[in-house]
Amino acid sequence: MEKPKVLITKERIHERVEALGQEINRDYSGTTITVIGILKGSIVFLADLIRQIHVPLFIDFVEVSTYGDDTKSSGGVKIIKDLSHSIEGHDVLVVEDIIDSGLTMEYILKNLQTKKPRSLKVCAFLEKPVNVKNKIKIDYKGFTIEDKFVIGYGLDYKGFMRNLDYVGYLET
Ligand code: IMP
Ligand code: MG
Repeated sequence: MEKPKVLITKERIHERVEALGQEINRDYSGTTITVIGILKGSIVFLADLIRQIHVPLFIDFVEVSTYGDDTKSSGGVKIIKDLSHSIEGHDVLVVEDIIDSGLTMEYILKNLQTKKPRSLKVCAFLEKPVNVKNKIKIDYKGFTIEDKFVIGYGLDYKGFMRNLDYVGYLET
């Protein structure tokens, strides 16, 4: 496979994740956070982010599958791994790798809302401008990127390349 081009360097990622952690620490000061990672794409971001958070926190995961081809999502979403613990009354922060059309997050938020959290916010590492039309409110956002298929830092192409320490893209 060709070598990916760099879109966001690991240094810029580190700086941004530190800043997001500071915002989260300020906003959640005096509380306990339940961080919910969306598998599998969020794991790298989540692992870095939680080490910048100094408020007590729990971690849980949800895994969803989106039906569609390899580089576009088609809108059908289903939960294939649900939460392990109740979030009723918790201050929940959902951590996701990327929000593209926003359909996946819309579905996840609706589902989590039925579990009666005290508060529910979204932290997304990346946003593509397309999301604007679905109006997912991203409370903490890493970067807005152009409408390109990206890989690395958790994001995959056919399951591979999640382990790159930067965000890249394949020239097509
Ligand atoms: P949405 O439902 O269109 O917002 O799609 C979100 C999901 O599609 C994310 O959770 C990713 O798994 C995947 N996705 C969207 N864009 C990309 C990309 O550029 N690279 C890798 N995965 C992507
Ligand atoms: Mg994903």
